Amino acid sequence: RGTPALHVVERSDVVDWWPALGPASEKYTRGVVGVATGSRTYPGAAVLSVGGALAGPTGLVRYAGSARDEVVRQHPSVIATGRVADAGRVQAWVCGSGLGTGEEAVGELRAVLSAPVPVVLDADALTLLVDGSMADRLRTRDAPIVVTPHDREYARLCGEEPGADRVAATLRLAAWMNAVVLLKGDRTVVGTPAGRAYVNPTGTPALATGGTGDVLAGLLGSLLAAGVRADRAAATAAYLHGLAGREAARGGPVTAPDVVTALRPVIARLT
Ligand code: APR
Ligand code: MG
Repeated sequence: RGTPALHVVERSDVVDWWPALGPASEKYTRGVVGVATGSRTYPGAAVLSVGGALAGPTGLVRYAGSARDEVVRQHPSVIATGRVADAGRVQAWVCGSGLGTGEEAVGELRAVLSAPVPVVLDADALTLLVDGSMADRLRTRDAPIVVTPHDREYARLCGEEPGADRVAATLRLAAWMNAVVLLKGDRTVVGTPAGRAYVNPTGTPALATGGTGDVLAGLLGSLLAAGVRADRAAATAAYLHGLAGREAARGGPVTAPDVVTALRPVIARLT
């Protein structure tokens, strides 16, 4: 394979790729994102991923899972159900953050994967892919999949550490899984099965705190549901998430809810 095309994400890309609102915008045409995250043990992951989704371009967020009470208390505009099967139509799913790895989680992941829409798989969904026999389902799936591993999740999926060449590592996993891969880190890399790669320059160590990954997954799902191409959605989410981390850090030590809050002004400044 030759040298892959590598693109450093720029502000102008994100401005171009962000779906603009117009006079004809309506909540359903803006897209509906479904979020299947969290659990009784980790309700916070659900609240954070939904927070990320609400900051995105979609007009409606549906939540499906066992943290529905916490989600609706924190985010009253969300329509919540207990299960993916009861959630109604969405244009993309986000699955995995804080989901757990028991029977119930497996069932929810299966339901998400059988929907003919783009999906973001994060955290426990990635663990289930490794443990279960679900990797094969991915290769034959028509709608796009974006996986968002950190280094340990990457190592579990791939059987080896990403190593020094993170772009090559990302493209390897993308080709093997037939999915867009967002490999998290200081300079987050996005890679496609076809060998296209992006590097995000906005990262900050302020984001190295529990739950910020859940926020990223939610924002990414919203971009997919709004119709943004999967690789661009992943690059855009990483770029804005990094800026939000920097913005939040101006106020002192960052927690994941601060990143949710900071996404709004960061996104508002794009237009
Ligand atoms: N520089 C830039 N960005 C960073 C850095 C860094 N040094 N460290 C982390 N980040 C960013 C990543 O790029 C990613 O967007 O912060 C986010 C962290 O996401 P995750 O690694 O998914 O972490 P998160 O899920 O939010 O919280 C940690 O994951 O491993 C589980 O159970 C563990 O509770 C823990 C949780
Ligand atoms: Mg995570």
